[in-house]
Amino acid sequence: MSESIILGIESSCDDTSAAIIKGNKILSNIAASQAIHNEYGGVVPELASRAHQQNIIPVVHKAVNKANIQQKDISAVGFTRGPGLLGSLLVGTSFAKSLSMSLGVPLIEVNHLQAHILAHFIDDANEKSPEFPFLCLTVSGGHTMIVLVRDYFDMEIIGKTIDDAAGEAFDKIGKIFGLDYPAGPIVDQLAKTGNADAFKFNKPRLENYNYSFSGIKTSVLYFIQKEVKKNPEFITENLADLCASVQKSIIEILMLKVEKAAKDLNINEVAIAGGVSANSGLREAMQQNAEKLGWNIYIPKFEYTTDNAAMIAMVAKLKFDKGEFADLSVSATARYDI
Ligand code: KG4
Ligand code: ZN
Repeated sequence: MSESIILGIESSCDDTSAAIIKGNKILSNIAASQAIHNEYGGVVPELASRAHQQNIIPVVHKAVNKANIQQKDISAVGFTRGPGLLGSLLVGTSFAKSLSMSLGVPLIEVNHLQAHILAHFIDDANEKSPEFPFLCLTVSGGHTMIVLVRDYFDMEIIGKTIDDAAGEAFDKIGKIFGLDYPAGPIVDQLAKTGNADAFKFNKPRLENYNYSFSGIKTSVLYFIQKEVKKNPEFITENLADLCASVQKSIIEILMLKVEKAAKDLNINEVAIAGGVSANSGLREAMQQNAEKLGWNIYIPKFEYTTDNAAMIAMVAKLKFDKGEFADLSVSATARYDI
């Protein structure tokens, strides 16, 4: 039997993306991000939805062309059903439905969070795929959770944030520093030349494996307000140190609970996923734990960390193999548990 060729479509937030997967190998992974949100300091749902409508056809075309395949070679169409912004999800969902109908191929719905995690099974995501059961710290702009992954589609959230997500903390604190949206990657870059021990911020004390990031955001805000009153140039003069200190605190908060979960559950297969897994400090902290605690760590390639359709195509492929198809009555859903 020839290998399946599947088109994946992602439109849950502000990236319109399409990818082609053959077997577990990505042939193309195209994304159009939406610069329009930068000036608003966050994603504006109505604008995101409109931009998806403009981007989706050219992005899918590019993905098909780059993969060097023809439309008739496509065995199935996978799409992100949720969670995400409803208006954004609707664009990908409607497009995927019409395309599957016109090509006469199965339609496959994908959970965006499962996709972030299962991106680890893409051929070139890691040197080696994680072994079940593994723990996956899933950290993005909308989610922060520790997931116990027993099998591809047998996942349990054992801890999560009770307020802001880690990416949201990076973005909101970056905004306090006057940085553009999304501030996460900029904080990461600036942190490289800063002293991470220059400033200390409050850390949450929460039970179990749960997280909270609203406290550190408030603590940074009050600290900055106080310092700027004394010296209006405080932020500019200390930007790299501020970024390095904030990044260190967020990573310490994240890693503490993963270490606890790994110890309690006696699991040493540990992965990270989602937009914040692109963070160089978090990647370094994982490396250190691999050496210190003997973890086998899984850090995805950059292009599979932030929102992308390759991960959607990967999940669609796994579902295709099981014959798990959606029918045309399937609808987008803003909330969608894994
Ligand atoms: O997974 P993702 O692309 O979208 C969501 O599903 O939310 O994650 C986006 C988030 C943003 O908050 C962004 O600031 C953060 O990931 N992010 C980073 C880095 N790259 C992206 N945060 C810290 N350091 C980075 N290098
Ligand atoms: Zn995401």
